[in-house]
Amino acid sequence: MPLTVSIDAFEVVTDPAAAPPTAASDRPVRSDALDTLGATPNYLAASGFDGTAGSTALMAGIADTADDIMPIAVGLGSDDLTAADVRKAAANLWRAASKVESLTSALAAVAADDLGADVALAAVVEGMLLASYGFDQHKGEPSEADALGQVVLAAPDGTDTAAAIARAAAVAGGIALARDLVNQPAGALTASGLADAATEAIEAASAGAEPAAGTASIEVWDRERLVAEQCGGLLGVNAGSTEPPALIRMRWQPAAEPRATVHLVGKGITFDTGGLNLKSFEGMEWMKIDMGGAAAVIGAMSAIVRLAPDVAVTGICCCTDNQPGPTATKPGDVLHIRNGKTVEVLNTDAEGRLVLADGLSLAVEEEPDLVVDLATLTGACMVALGDKYAGLMGNDPAAIERAQAAARAAGELLWHLPLPPEYREQLDSPIADLRNIGKNRYGGTLHAGLFLSEFAGETPWVHFDIAGPVRTDTDAGELSPGASGFGVRTLVELICGW
Ligand code: BES
Ligand code: MN
Ligand code: ZN
Repeated sequence: MPLTVSIDAFEVVTDPAAAPPTAASDRPVRSDALDTLGATPNYLAASGFDGTAGSTALMAGIADTADDIMPIAVGLGSDDLTAADVRKAAANLWRAASKVESLTSALAAVAADDLGADVALAAVVEGMLLASYGFDQHKGEPSEADALGQVVLAAPDGTDTAAAIARAAAVAGGIALARDLVNQPAGALTASGLADAATEAIEAASAGAEPAAGTASIEVWDRERLVAEQCGGLLGVNAGSTEPPALIRMRWQPAAEPRATVHLVGKGITFDTGGLNLKSFEGMEWMKIDMGGAAAVIGAMSAIVRLAPDVAVTGICCCTDNQPGPTATKPGDVLHIRNGKTVEVLNTDAEGRLVLADGLSLAVEEEPDLVVDLATLTGACMVALGDKYAGLMGNDPAAIERAQAAARAAGELLWHLPLPPEYREQLDSPIADLRNIGKNRYGGTLHAGLFLSEFAGETPWVHFDIAGPVRTDTDAGELSPGASGFGVRTLVELICGW
């Protein structure tokens, strides 16, 4: 159970008179309004509350606090309010209130002035749902559940309450699913396990969707089918494993004429040992997260099916573990990718680009308007951008702009990196069409991007290297230590906002 609170816990009142009369519901919790709660500057300073975005303070014992009601001050910052600020404030409000039974908040009503009522309400609900996320299925004793079982949110008259809640539940559900899949140890989630989870997710999402809006479907390719379809990259990475590979293909087809066709491709390495070029102890420690791209695609597809946009979407996940073994691909071996290109594998640890080569080939065959791939592709991207920013590369300025706009709206951090033609020769092989690693160790993220671009061809394509942000140490706002679900919200924004 990833989200520990059910969407049924939320009640929205658009008539403030109907809301329980608490300080938080009938007075906006905004720093300039705090004095109306009887909170003096000294009081606030003493409680360490500075009003920055996401800060909270329990306002115990202030002047007009009614019996058994605990006002909580929530900071929204002073700059232009964004949906991300509101999500974070709502998430921290949830954290501050999670030990009480019932919470009433005017946050959505206050934020509606800046963001519009529907966006504000969705941000509050999404932030609270995500703050309730936990992953304790492998604990002997499950963690203590949040007590909070009833949330009353005030929203302005005219808010499309049902739509806002449905959107928040779809997005938070997709993010929680991605977090669950990434948090799951590799011993408990093989390639076929990932395919089963995707099948379950698509079925659940279709069951919850309006049937007239379109159709969702899913197909899983086994080894035999991958051989028939000439997916030599995925098969080559799988060669050292005792677990079968799986290529997952999910579809959302709207009933209306689609405004666009988008293909999403995810790297689904359920565990990356490095293969025969075995990783070190430190390098391998976290490699259960190496299917974070596939998890983001599955999470986004589950949300998209629920939200039913007029955009045709295909999600392709290339899944296997990367293992050494007597039958493993060896340095110097040549693989035949789906699109006919050949690759000399000089480092079996550069395996993500090999499975994505097949996935991108399959995607561009259908001539979509845009292909987006997500992958925990290079440690070098973390060296360049740290652990919070994804690297963005692509072959089309409009597609890059679209990805940047979606990420901005989603509040996910990324930075555009180049695909320098000057470095393309680093991938030249004397015996095949390409090498799978550069000839020197500088700019490894760009070598990987250049390699992928060979399989995107002329189709508009963007690549997210999410090696850094796939995982977090942060325990605040919507994040808790472990998987972040990075990418899901950007993909949903990109597609639903097309
Ligand atoms: N899965 C790793 C990249 C990675 C590293 C993701 C750290 C998350 C955290 C990828 O398959 C890999 O091993 N890349 C190599 C490429 C190299 C062999 C050219 C790397 O980054 O060292
Ligand atoms: Mn690797
Ligand atoms: Zn990898």
